[in-house]
Amino acid sequence: MNASLATVSYIGSTILFILSLGGLSNPETARRGNLFGIIGMAIAVLATVFGPRVTAAGYPWIVAALLVGASVGLLAAKKVQMTQMPELVALMHSLVGLAACLVGFASYVDTSVVFEGAEHSIHVMEIYIGILIGAITFSGSIIAFGKLSGKIGGKPLLLPARHWINLVGLLVVIYFGHAFLHAQSIQAGMTPLIVMTVIALLFGIHMVMAIGGADMPVVVSMLNSYSGWAAAATGFMLSNDLLIVVGALVGSSGAILSYIMCRAMNRNFLSVIAGGFGSGGGAAPAAQGGAAPPAGEVSPIGAAETAELLRDAKNVIIVPGYGMAVAQAQHTVFEITRLLREKGVNVRFGIHPVAGRMPGHMNVLLAEAKVPYDIVLEMDEINEDFPETDVTMVIGANDIVNPAAQDDPASPIAGMPVLEVWKARTSVVMKRSMASGYAGVDNPLFYKDNNRMLFGDAKKMLDEVLAALKS
Ligand code: TAP
Repeated sequence: MNASLATVSYIGSTILFILSLGGLSNPETARRGNLFGIIGMAIAVLATVFGPRVTAAGYPWIVAALLVGASVGLLAAKKVQMTQMPELVALMHSLVGLAACLVGFASYVDTSVVFEGAEHSIHVMEIYIGILIGAITFSGSIIAFGKLSGKIGGKPLLLPARHWINLVGLLVVIYFGHAFLHAQSIQAGMTPLIVMTVIALLFGIHMVMAIGGADMPVVVSMLNSYSGWAAAATGFMLSNDLLIVVGALVGSSGAILSYIMCRAMNRNFLSVIAGGFGSGGGAAPAAQGGAAPPAGEVSPIGAAETAELLRDAKNVIIVPGYGMAVAQAQHTVFEITRLLREKGVNVRFGIHPVAGRMPGHMNVLLAEAKVPYDIVLEMDEINEDFPETDVTMVIGANDIVNPAAQDDPASPIAGMPVLEVWKARTSVVMKRSMASGYAGVDNPLFYKDNNRMLFGDAKKMLDEVLAALKS
């Protein structure tokens, strides 16, 4: 393939990636968006492999790498459960970071291309910044993977004077950056490069270890953005225009998502980057031996009684959370919704921006179960309607309906907007036990007078509710 055809293919891929992002912004067009992405990526890989910069000697390496990569990808896609997706995504971000580091070191020691003057300065700066972003992304994503998969405890690690440690790290990175830029030989530049890489790796670990409470989603989307910038940096080092454009697309869309998440969580963007937010000063969760459990009594309810409540209701709001994904209860939820709507009940869904374990998690599950989009509303669109609601059915959700976020300034989730389900006439919470949610904090909702607890696996309990509604 000659250079012009490769360039045209890259432009075609770029357009397809932009269309893909546009499609993915809406559940109705998401499938089409995915298809555009797949075609764009296939064209990009073919244009790169058969493009002018790959010689025949490189083919065995490329084929071997493709075989290994494709096998691991296929195995992961088959094995990984929907609930494990966020961990997998975190792991994939770490690979982008690692690739940026490896390409950076390889570009630095590569003597086949010689840059002079300003070009040399630009090239070494690309390498330094590329490795810096790559190393932070790599180690931060590994820790995020550990936290999301439960291999590392969710409790924030708050080192004393952590902001000073970060500041000193930054100053050292700038100092060694100057030394690296002016190094007279590859050997002389290696020491500053390695010192910076170690600091960047430690910063990535520190940044994510310090995140506590329910704030992991913001960090995950931020690492997504970092992985995009790491890919763009790799594109600069390899002089690959497509990688620069795609990296910038991922980096900027990830940054926009992080901003949206920060607003949704009522958090400050800068304090996310510095690490440790959402944990400062909060009382230790009761689950970890901290504050006493909330006052009040828990009132259990059965499936038949829940069905009766739903049958007698005019307005129902369903709030799904992570437990619905674990139980894979979305299809039964749809059946119940259909039945109630046929009986004239106004059923709607309230979706919290960080419900579940990844952005849009609940929307994907409800779309899979064919719940109509027009009754699935965002938190801001539905929060005012709870006082006029007869029954709210909370299915495997916990943190996103926790009134402590509003009432208890010492709570680790204080300030996070929540769905105000307790304002309905009756709320029914479906979960298996009194265990806390992801943030590890007690939920006073369970003890409110107008709340009932329907204990059990969400799928099993909803099947029973459905059977009772049908009888
Ligand atoms: P959580 O607060 O994690 O609560 C989920 C609840 O589901 C648990 O309390 C659990 O209680 C219950 N559950 C688990 N399996 C169940 C089953 N089979 N049947 C019935 N219930 C089951 O979830 P949420 O309310 O959706 O909030 C999401 C949390 O995850 C937030 O803290 C958020 O910050 C965090 N997070 C979100 C993301 C994104 S991007 N969305 C990423 C990382 C972290 P039992 O064990 O008693 O059943």
